[in-house]
Amino acid sequence: MCGIVGYVGGQTALQVVLDGLRRLEYRGYDSAGVAILTEDEIRLAKKAGKLSNLEKELQERGDQVMAAGNCGIGHTRWATHGGPTDRNAHPHLSADGRVAVIHNGIIENFAKLRAALEAEGIEFRSDTDTECVSHLLSLELRKTDDLAAAMRNVCTTLEGAFTLLAVDTRTPGKVVGARRNSPLVVGRGQGENFLASDVSAFIAHTRDAIELGQDQVVLITADSIEITDFSGVPVEGRPYHVNWDLAAAEKGGHEWFMFKEIDEQPRAVADTLLGRVGEHGEILLDEVRLTDQDLRDIDKVFIVACGTAYHAGLVAKYAIEHWTRIPCEVELASEFRYRDPVLDRSTLVVAISQSGETMDTLMALRHAKDQKARVLAICNTNGSTIPRESDAVLYTHGGPEIAVASTKAFLTQLAACFLVGLHLAQVRGVKYADEVGAVVDQLRAMPELIKKVLSEMDAVRELARSLAEEKTFIFLGRHVGYPVALEGALKLKELAYVHAEGFAAGELKHGPIAVIDQGTPVVCIVPSPAGRGVLHDKIVSNIQEVRARGARTIVIAEEGDEAVVPYADHLIRVPRTPTLLAPLVTTVPMQVLAAEIAHTRGFDVDQPRNLAKSVTVE
Ligand code: M6R
Repeated sequence: MCGIVGYVGGQTALQVVLDGLRRLEYRGYDSAGVAILTEDEIRLAKKAGKLSNLEKELQERGDQVMAAGNCGIGHTRWATHGGPTDRNAHPHLSADGRVAVIHNGIIENFAKLRAALEAEGIEFRSDTDTECVSHLLSLELRKTDDLAAAMRNVCTTLEGAFTLLAVDTRTPGKVVGARRNSPLVVGRGQGENFLASDVSAFIAHTRDAIELGQDQVVLITADSIEITDFSGVPVEGRPYHVNWDLAAAEKGGHEWFMFKEIDEQPRAVADTLLGRVGEHGEILLDEVRLTDQDLRDIDKVFIVACGTAYHAGLVAKYAIEHWTRIPCEVELASEFRYRDPVLDRSTLVVAISQSGETMDTLMALRHAKDQKARVLAICNTNGSTIPRESDAVLYTHGGPEIAVASTKAFLTQLAACFLVGLHLAQVRGVKYADEVGAVVDQLRAMPELIKKVLSEMDAVRELARSLAEEKTFIFLGRHVGYPVALEGALKLKELAYVHAEGFAAGELKHGPIAVIDQGTPVVCIVPSPAGRGVLHDKIVSNIQEVRARGARTIVIAEEGDEAVVPYADHLIRVPRTPTLLAPLVTTVPMQVLAAEIAHTRGFDVDQPRNLAKSVTVE
């Protein structure tokens, strides 16, 4: 939700900020704006729509003074308060024009703050919650010249979630930032420093980053970085080195980031698995602040996650219960804390999140911790809030995922979930090291199998083009194929804006089969006949049932499974895999199908309408 960048140094701030915003556009793209500090004033430009609209406006304006500034901030927005218009775009100026502010998050008490400011005669120029911060900051700066102190004082009056950046005309060469419940990282350069929602914004300039903690304020100049908590006590941020480069965040010759990310999946899954087995055959997590005894005491597992990560959790349930014999529930993170789940010290809550910043998941995690449960995070973003607040962490190491709809995040989350299941089984003595080793070997074979699936996607792309005008799609699966069906439907909805629903195949006859009409495309995910035969046979019957009612069946089945051939209008083959691991291959054709349909329909595959990559509001 919203990308923010700040810069001070020897380069043209406008260019650095615009480049950073381009890499953060996945976080929100309904408007964009910049504020550049010149000698004695703030030059502001903001525009509704994508960043390209702002760039066009800047080009037409040709403001040479603005282009020469060395200190500035920029914002790309995903609207919460106030529609996506020019006037609601960030930055927001204070009434006296002294201060410009950008914001990611929601100021929950903004209505009260706004009423108080209006009562003092301040006229608001937008419908945003953010604007009150710019007025408050400029009022504080009448009491102190210290920009960081003024920001700290303002932050103590704010409720909700926020990352704020501000510049002040009377404090040249400085950008101040603050964070509570929203991400902010510092980039440390040579004679220049950066602030951003994530490192991709400044990675072209430096790979040295500093992670900011909760409730902290940072002041950067070209040569210094000062971090304090909200009461002004100096604190050390956690420095770290970013080990992926700019090329990893670029499209690498593909038309869309998503096409590239789909193609990267064999490598991404291999990286998730890399170095996970210790010298005694034990599974290694990245950070463990729990003892093995803590894990042995676990008698219940809850998985909390949203969207695609939730679907990964649904697959994980099958593996975790099968391997550990511990009951495992999967919950939508946004619902978890409202239904008063039964949690205690012997509950393990697994929070899955690509970004590590999803507010619903973070709040579920905090609720679990309040109830004394242990929390383990599966996350792709090093140093983000969810892993930081967890007792143990397994990073997926999938590399940056830029396309808003998740693809490689899902597959790497699956691989990570399998590792967590194996770790639990091993620590609890339910599986011996050699049994765990055998599954790890099967997992390690998966990247090659995913590669094979990817090499045979031309027919799926052709099929997608023939389906591009369809209005409704149904996805069916059983066992681990059921969450895969949900994920297939989600991909299609978010990318191609068509109605798509995933069902447990057995549930169809209890109602949804009524929607099947002549020609309705139904994607069926068929489990291996070599696994549990009954599962396979049941879904073959389900395929016949929908076909008898006119459906156009698109069947994803294992090589050598001849039983499905008579009932498949289109057959997509995947290699043979162990039943539990099958989602690592069966998901891929559905990702390609959805991306290709969206592309054929002329939609923006990387930035679908109404969505944001990182959902940092509840
Ligand atoms: O960053 P997270 O994994 O926590 O994000 C969770 C969901 O918001 C995310 O998976 C979302 O559903 C994507 N649009 C799926 O493609």
